[in-house]
Amino acid sequence: MLGTRDELKKLMKKKFMAAGMHDDHADDMAEVLAWSSERGLHSHGEVRVEYYTEHISKGGMTVDPKVAWTQTGPRSGILDADNGCGYPFAIEGMQKVIDMAKEHGIGFVGVANVSHTGAIGYYTEMAAKQGMIGLSCTQSDPMVIPYGGAEPFYGTNPIAIAAPTADGRIVSFDMATTVQAWGKILDAKSAGRSIPEGWAVDEDGRPVTDPHKVNALVAIAGPKGYGLMMMVDILSGVLLGVPAGKHVSSLYHDLSEGRRLGHLNVAINPEFFCGDQNFREHMSEVLDELNATKPGVGFDKVYWPGERAQKRIQATKDVGGIEMWTTSTTTSSPTTCTATAGTTRTASRSRGAARGGLAGATCRRPSYRLAILHKRIRGTLEYAWRSPGAAPWRAPCHFTALTCDSRNIHSASRWAAIIDRSAGSQ
Ligand SMILES: NC(=O)c1ccc[n+]([C@@H]2O[C@H](COP(=O)([O-])OP(=O)(O)OC[C@H]3O[C@@H](n4cnc5c(N)ncnc54)[C@H](O)[C@@H]3O)[C@@H](O)[C@H]2O)c1
Repeated sequence: MLGTRDELKKLMKKKFMAAGMHDDHADDMAEVLAWSSERGLHSHGEVRVEYYTEHISKGGMTVDPKVAWTQTGPRSGILDADNGCGYPFAIEGMQKVIDMAKEHGIGFVGVANVSHTGAIGYYTEMAAKQGMIGLSCTQSDPMVIPYGGAEPFYGTNPIAIAAPTADGRIVSFDMATTVQAWGKILDAKSAGRSIPEGWAVDEDGRPVTDPHKVNALVAIAGPKGYGLMMMVDILSGVLLGVPAGKHVSSLYHDLSEGRRLGHLNVAINPEFFCGDQNFREHMSEVLDELNATKPGVGFDKVYWPGERAQKRIQATKDVGGIEMWTTSTTTSSPTTCTATAGTTRTASRSRGAARGGLAGATCRRPSYRLAILHKRIRGTLEYAWRSPGAAPWRAPCHFTALTCDSRNIHSASRWAAIIDRSAGSQ
C-alpha cells in the first residue's frame, strides 16, 4: 500500500496527538519522520511511531515540558527541553542558531535533556535552506565498543553538515559514526543470514559474522571513527552537562525514564566569510565537478552527499507514494492463532501477559484489520498481520507473522501506522 508524504504525516500526527502531544509538537515530530521516510530512511521514519507513543504513555517523554532557554552569550545558548520530544526542540534549537548566524555570523546552541532527535540531517537542511551551513550532532545509547575495547561505551552518535548552493541543491552529509546500524543486525537475525565481518563484535571484542553472537557494534574507520564518535559525545554531551559516554540512557531499557540526551546545533553564515553569493556559486561548481568526475569501476557516477536522497524522493513520487506495508524483517511464515477483539490494551501492556505463547493477540478496536501478537522467544516479539479475507476477530484467524527483536520495534510501528489507515474515518 502506498501513501503520500502528506497522508503518512497526517496519520503519524494523529497518533501522536492521540498519545497526548500538543498539536505543534506532534506536527514537528510527524514532519521529520515523513521527511525521513520519503528519502527511504525508514529506520528513522514511520517505524518509530509506536516506540514514541509507548515512551509517552510510560511517562519517559514529557508532553508538557517546562522548557528553559538560557542565552549564554550573543552567539550561544542552551535550550533545556525537560525530556520533551526531541524533534520540536532540535528544530527550535536550529532556528535559534540560524537567527544568531544571520546577525552575528555564527551560532551555537545545545539542546539538553531531550529525547531522541531522529535523522539529524533534517535540522542541518533547515539551515542550508536559509542560506547557512548547518551542523548537528547528537548522542545515542551505548552499543559501540571504543577502539580496542570489548564493552559498549558510545552510541552510534551521528553527525550531519549541510550547505546551500547557487541553484537550489543542498549538500547534505548525515551519518551515524558506526559501520552499520543495530537494525541491520536484527534484520540479519530475523532472516537467518550472517553479517559481513567488520560490522560487530562478540563479548570479547572479536569480530563476528553470526548475528546471534553480536554484543556491540564498531565505529567506522577503526580508531578514526572512534575518535569522531567520541568528539560527537563531547560536543553534544559533556559540553552540555548531560550524561555522556557509557552513562547515556538506553533507547529501550526503561521507557518510564527521560532520555536526558544532548544535541548540538551550529550555523555558520557564509556572508561573514567569503560572501554568500561567492560561497553558493563556488559550491555549485564543486558539485558539478564532482558529478563530472570519471566514475570508478562498478560505479555509475560520482554523487555528492544528499544527491541520492533527492533521487529517492523523486522515485517515491514517481511510484505514487511511500511504501507502507513492506518491512525488512518479514518472515512470512503463516501461523494460526485465536485473536481476541475489542480490547483497548496497547502492545506494551499486554506483552508480559502473553509471554511464552500466542494467546496475547490484541487489537485496539474490533474494526481494525491488524493484530499484534506478543510472544517472547529468545527475546523476540512477534507482530502479525491478519490475512485479508480471514474470519472475524472472535474466530480463529490466520496470521502471517513477522518477527522482530524487542530492541527493534520498527516493524510493529509500521503496522501500527496501517491500523489508523484502515480505521479510515475514525
Ligand atoms: N538520532 C540518533 O540517535 C541517530 C543515530 C544514528 C543514526 N541516525 C540517523 O540515521 C540516518 C542514517 O545514517 P547512516 O549512517 O546509515 O547513513 P548512510 O550510510 O545511509 O549515509 C551516510 C552519508 O553518506 C552519503 N552517501 C551514501 N552513499 C553515497 C554515495 N554513493 N555517494 C555519495 N554520498 C553517499 C549520504 O548522502 C549520507 O550523507 C541519518 O539520518 C542519521 O542522522 C540518528
